[in-house]
Amino acid sequence: MSQPDDLLKKIIGHAKEYGFVYPSSEIYDGLSAAYDYGPYGSELKNNLKRYWWDAMVRLHEEIVGLDSSIFMHPTTWKASGHVDAFNDPLIDNKDSKKRYRADVLIEDYIEKYRLKIEKDVTKGKKRFGEDFDEEQFRATNPNVLRNQKKIVEINTRFKEAMAAENLGAVKRLIEELGIADPETGSKNWTDVRQFNLMFKTELGSVAGDGSAIYLRPETAQGIFVNFLNVQKSSRMKIPFGIAQIGKAFRNEIIARQFIFRMREFEQMEMQFFVKPGTELDWYETWKERRIQWHKTLGLGESNYRFHNHVKLAHYANAACDIEFKFPMGFKELEGIHSRTDFDLASHEEHSGKKLRYFDPQDKESYVPYVVETSIGLDRLFLAVLSTAYTEEKLEDDTERTVLNIPHALAPVKVAVLPLVKKDGLPVLAREIMSRLKLDHNCQYDEKDGIGKRYRRQDAIGTPFCITVDHESLKDNCVTIRERDSMAQERVSIDSIGEIVNQKVSLKTLLSQL
Ligand code: GAP
Repeated sequence: MSQPDDLLKKIIGHAKEYGFVYPSSEIYDGLSAAYDYGPYGSELKNNLKRYWWDAMVRLHEEIVGLDSSIFMHPTTWKASGHVDAFNDPLIDNKDSKKRYRADVLIEDYIEKYRLKIEKDVTKGKKRFGEDFDEEQFRATNPNVLRNQKKIVEINTRFKEAMAAENLGAVKRLIEELGIADPETGSKNWTDVRQFNLMFKTELGSVAGDGSAIYLRPETAQGIFVNFLNVQKSSRMKIPFGIAQIGKAFRNEIIARQFIFRMREFEQMEMQFFVKPGTELDWYETWKERRIQWHKTLGLGESNYRFHNHVKLAHYANAACDIEFKFPMGFKELEGIHSRTDFDLASHEEHSGKKLRYFDPQDKESYVPYVVETSIGLDRLFLAVLSTAYTEEKLEDDTERTVLNIPHALAPVKVAVLPLVKKDGLPVLAREIMSRLKLDHNCQYDEKDGIGKRYRRQDAIGTPFCITVDHESLKDNCVTIRERDSMAQERVSIDSIGEIVNQKVSLKTLLSQL
C-alpha cells in the first residue's frame, strides 16, 4: 500500500502522462497552483459537471440555471463582505524571506499534539488488546488529557486574538510557542498582517482606485445580484433555487496538494431561496440530498463524513462541510451553509434596490433566506481520480494500472480495436465506431498488440473494449471486455449499443437519486 504522499505523487504523474492534468505553462517551468486539464481530464470534468447540473437543474423543477459574468460591479464585493473580511493573516520570516499563513503555522504546531495523542491511543490499543476502551482512555489518560488541554488553550488564544483583530497577539503566540520557519528553523518573524485573497485588476485603460475591479472569489454573488431577474423572468415561486457552474479566483498564499487548492478553480454552487423561518429545515434537507448525490457516485460510503462548523461565520446560522478522504486525509469537498438573508439584505442596502419576494399566498413581501450548496469541481475531480487509481497484480504475475472511474463518468466509454490492421478488420471496426460515437465518446486504436492496447485503455479508465477479429466477419459478433473484471464476452454487433448504453448512461446514476 502506498503512503499518502507517494500515492498523491503517483496520481499526479499518472494524470500528466495520460492526459488528465498538466502543470500550467509547463514549458516556462509552470505557474504554481495553476493547472491545465488535458484531453481526458476535460472529458471527465465535463461529465462531472453534467452529473451535478442534471441532478440539480433537470431533476428539480424548482431549480433553474444561470451563467453570470466573472467581472462584477466592485460594490458587489463591498456588500458581500469580501473587500473587508476575505483575508488571511500572513507572517514573513525575516531571514528566509518566506511568507506563511499565521493560522497554518499554528495549526501545524497543534497537529504535533494531536499526533502525540494518537500515538498514546495506539500504544494503549496494543497494550490492552480487545479489552481496550478507547473512549474511556481518551477521557482519562493523563498524557492525552494534558495534550488535549494544550490544544484547547492554543486554539482559544488564537481564535480570541483573531476575533478581536489583535494581530499583535497572534505574533506573540507564535513567538511564545517557539514556532520556527518550517524550512529553515529561523524564529525571526515580522509582524502579522492581513492579506486580501481577491485578485484585483483595472477596468478599461484608466488606472486608479475608481476603476479597480476583482476576479470573483465565488460564483454565488452572481446568483444573489440576479435573484429578482431570475425569479421574475422564470416565474419562480419560493422555495426555489438558482444553480451555476463557473470559475472562481483566490490569491491563496499556500497553494499546495495538486488541484486541491488552486488560485483559479471551478465551483458548482446552488442558492436555494426560502421563506424566513424555514431555512433550518431546508438546510437539513439539502445536507441529505447532497450526501446522497455523493454516495450515488460509488466512491465508497466510508470516504465521506460531515464536519459541522462550531464557530459560524457572521452571516450563517448553520454550516457544515462534506469531507472526503483524499490521499492526504479527510478534507473539505463541499460546503453547505444556511446564509440567512445576509447577502440579499446587504445588496439591497448597497444598491438601494429592493430585493424582495412578494408571497402571493401570505400577501407579504420579504427578503428570502438562503441555503447554499457549494462544491469545488477540481476537488471532486481529485476525489474521483484518487479513488479510481489502482495498481493491480494479476494472476499471471503481470501488473496493470487501472482507473476504476465510475462508468458513467469515464472520459472514453468504448474503445474499438481491430485485432490486426488488415484483412478488412479495420473497415468493420470503423463501421462499429461510427455507430457508437453518435452516443458516446469512443476511441479507435489499431496500434500494437491487443494486450498493450487493453492496458492503455485501463490507464485512462475506459469501461469497455470491443475487439473485432476474423470470426467477426463471418458471425457478426465481437468480443467485449469489461475494465474492472477483465471478463470477456462474445456478443452480436447489433447488441453492443444497448449493452454499453445500459452501463455507461448517466441515467443509471440519476435514477438512484
Ligand atoms: N460560496 C461559498 C464558498 O465559496 P467556500 O467554502 O469558500 O464557500 C466552496 O468554497 C468550495 O469551493 C469548497 O468546498 C471547495 O471545494 C472549493 N474551493 C474553495 N477554495 C478552493 C481552492 N483554492 N481551490 C480549489 N477548490 C476550492
